[in-house]
Amino acid sequence: METKFAPSRGLAGTVSVPGDKSISHRAAIIGSMAAGDTTVRGYSEAADCASTLKVLRALGVRIEAAAGDVTIAGRGVGGFDPPTGPLGCGNSGTTMRLIAGALATCPIAAVLTGDESLNRRPMRRVIEPLVLMGAKCQASDEAGHPPMTVRGGRLESITYAPPVASAQVKSAVLLAGLGARGVTTVRESVPTRDHTERILRLAGIEVASVGPVVSVAPGIPAAFDLRVPGDFSSAAFFIAAALMVPGSAITVSGVGLNPTRTHFLRLLERMGARLEVIGSDIEGAHEPSGDIRAEYGSLTAIDVSPDEVARSIDEVTLLALLATAAHGRTTIKGAGELRHKESDRIRGTVQGLKALGARVEEITGGMAIEGPVQLRGARVNSRGDHRIAMMLGVAGLAGQGETVVEGWEWTRISYPGFDEALRRLQKESH
Ligand code: S3P
Repeated sequence: METKFAPSRGLAGTVSVPGDKSISHRAAIIGSMAAGDTTVRGYSEAADCASTLKVLRALGVRIEAAAGDVTIAGRGVGGFDPPTGPLGCGNSGTTMRLIAGALATCPIAAVLTGDESLNRRPMRRVIEPLVLMGAKCQASDEAGHPPMTVRGGRLESITYAPPVASAQVKSAVLLAGLGARGVTTVRESVPTRDHTERILRLAGIEVASVGPVVSVAPGIPAAFDLRVPGDFSSAAFFIAAALMVPGSAITVSGVGLNPTRTHFLRLLERMGARLEVIGSDIEGAHEPSGDIRAEYGSLTAIDVSPDEVARSIDEVTLLALLATAAHGRTTIKGAGELRHKESDRIRGTVQGLKALGARVEEITGGMAIEGPVQLRGARVNSRGDHRIAMMLGVAGLAGQGETVVEGWEWTRISYPGFDEALRRLQKESH
């Protein structure tokens, strides 16, 4: 399916974004390992989060979902039923990696598989620590590609330093740690998103974190009640659109503002972006949230370091787009992990932006972008990647002439309805 974008006359108004994808996955999985019934309000409508519910149901978890609220009947740690067939995780790396960690606590065997994209992604990063803990895991090849089998059971705690900074790996190890003997510790090179830790604490589990070192004590989470804030990584597309399209000023409301997710805002501030964050933290909420106001203005090139890439991993394609409008040469370094996402996001970003007239090149493990350049409409392709599709749609609003994004249907992976929400913000033409 393709979608067309005409140059925008500016964006105005307020938009709210769907529930956070990362928090939704974790709430469902930790709820399924809890004692009692957990309620998650504002569960993400993303296809990825539906994949998590589907897999949990196939493991015998009773889940009721209605109007954005999901109730999960917890099975305790190690309590899943043996599945009757392979567990299809769709396009969702988070589903596969986190559920692998949860499965490691269960004395059953299960096969995790995915779509074409997911079955090309590296799983050795979770297999290695789970095997060290005592689970038996096997991928389809030496490189660690899915389908992968997990046979769980009695686990020993470990102290593990993942070779790449990954919240998915950290979370898989922490979830397995719930069923291990002793305290499990993960030492990261850069602190990644900490939603797992926050939900575990909410569920009464002892979690200690000092900088990038996190430890979890074994135990059965208590059932919990959680409201999911808006997804910052979805909000980022509207923010980028407002910063790029002349005459724009918008507010994104009810967005999760967890500091392990919002480094993109710090980078934008360094570029000189006009931003205002209005915290409206709901009392007692386990995650901070608030509104973000973004206004069009002149931008300056910046250098983005490998640490900063890790802290804004899902927003890097947008940074590259914004850099096309910024004065000077922007460099993004240490972004090799982007080649292992739903697609090779360095290649997809560079090719897509080049087709739109940008001066962008691949450099070792990253990108360099010269600006400002006036983008011009062209036919571009999402390469089966939701974030590339949405980035190109935003680029289409800032370009001259019509942009056609092929493979638009992939936006359903994280944001069904993005197109309509973006169009609702368009100022009327006179
Ligand atoms: C996610 C972590 C990130 C991110 C992904 C969601 C999560 O992946 O890119 O979209 O929910 O834990 P890595 O942890 O593998 O970098």
